Amino acid sequence: MQSIRLILNKPLDRSYDVIIGRGSLGQLHREIGKLGRFSTYAMITDEQVRPLVTETLAGQLRSHGVEVVVLTLPAGEAAKTVDTVVDLCKQFLGFGLDRESLLLAVGGGVVGDISGFTAAIYLRGVSYIQVPTTLLAQVDSAIGGKTGVDLGAGKNLLGAFHQPLLVLADPDVLATLPPDAMREGLAEVIKTALIGDPELFATLEHEGSRLVDFRNPLLEEVIVRTCGVKCRVVNQDEREGGLRRILNFGHTLGHAVEAASNYRVSHGQAVAAGMGTAVRFSERLAGLGQAEARRALALIEAVGLRSRIPLGLNSQALLAALAKDKKVEAGVCHFVLLSGIGQPVVRPIPLGQLRRELESMLA
Ligand SMILES: NC(=O)c1ccc[n+]([C@@H]2O[C@H](COP(=O)([O-])OP(=O)(O)OC[C@H]3O[C@@H](n4cnc5c(N)ncnc54)[C@H](O)[C@@H]3O)[C@@H](O)[C@H]2O)c1
Repeated sequence: MQSIRLILNKPLDRSYDVIIGRGSLGQLHREIGKLGRFSTYAMITDEQVRPLVTETLAGQLRSHGVEVVVLTLPAGEAAKTVDTVVDLCKQFLGFGLDRESLLLAVGGGVVGDISGFTAAIYLRGVSYIQVPTTLLAQVDSAIGGKTGVDLGAGKNLLGAFHQPLLVLADPDVLATLPPDAMREGLAEVIKTALIGDPELFATLEHEGSRLVDFRNPLLEEVIVRTCGVKCRVVNQDEREGGLRRILNFGHTLGHAVEAASNYRVSHGQAVAAGMGTAVRFSERLAGLGQAEARRALALIEAVGLRSRIPLGLNSQALLAALAKDKKVEAGVCHFVLLSGIGQPVVRPIPLGQLRRELESMLA
């Protein structure tokens, strides 16, 4: 079991541990005990994760004297709404949850984002911890305190920064995760390696598609290293004033691919296409060497993701989606590119040039 301390001490100390290890779920009661005393415990999960992970975990906590109620949401992004948050708050009131209660988010990024946001606003803020059960949530969404829900007009438009008291990621819970969901998470792992960890990049190159198997002995270390980069970035820029933007590598265009395809292209696949495009831009606009670009593109493909924008999408639809997402300001779009592996740079690309670049790539 390894632990990374995410230090956040301004203005108040809100630092917390990100614990990663196979079998670490069995230690949850101990870790909760270290956080202090709470009046009530409520676990939030979704209907898919509940029989796979949550029931056992709740039973285990109860056997150690932690009386926990379990609240279950429908699975999937469609549940990430204000209505779900209001409904949860009403249930909290029914169970008598007060300011001293602890919420436990047990699930993927959707459960984590909803639970964190509800924790941020219920009674003006209660404590919560994250127990992420998808690879994406373990390496990315559970860490850093970004919480929120979607509005009809777009994703994550309502939200708050609210840091958890603890993140506990057990790679063994990934046993039941479908391979495509593992690849969604691997897209974020590759992103992290490209922007911040050449050694992790080399490990990923070596392992390739073998990382889709949760039993891979290197997976735990891969999660640790990925979380390490995210913790370092959040430590330096909690509220995305500058550096944290590098975490958007591949996401600017990725979100546009998702939106322009009416969300038929999955998030991970869209991010892979966004990263592939950003790598190609980087060669021309940021001095990334050809050999490094090839290695980056080969890695994306090696884990079973596509590094090219899916057929059927055109530059017009992508530019319209970028504009709608407010990514274009004063005729310029800011992209995170690479000048080398592990060396992110932000480059403004004028709209006309962006259109030409996209058209030559899509041709
Ligand atoms: N807050 C952040 O910083 C941040 C960062 C990245 C993404 N996100 C958000 O995360 C969400 C995506 O997260 P996700 O990919 O984890 O999706 P998700 O939470 O919808 O989980 C994907 C599916 O896997 C199921 N599942 C979860 N754990 C499982 C397990 N162990 N075994 C089998 N099935 C399991 C879920 O029930 C769901 O059906 C999006 O809403 C995105 O906006 C947030």
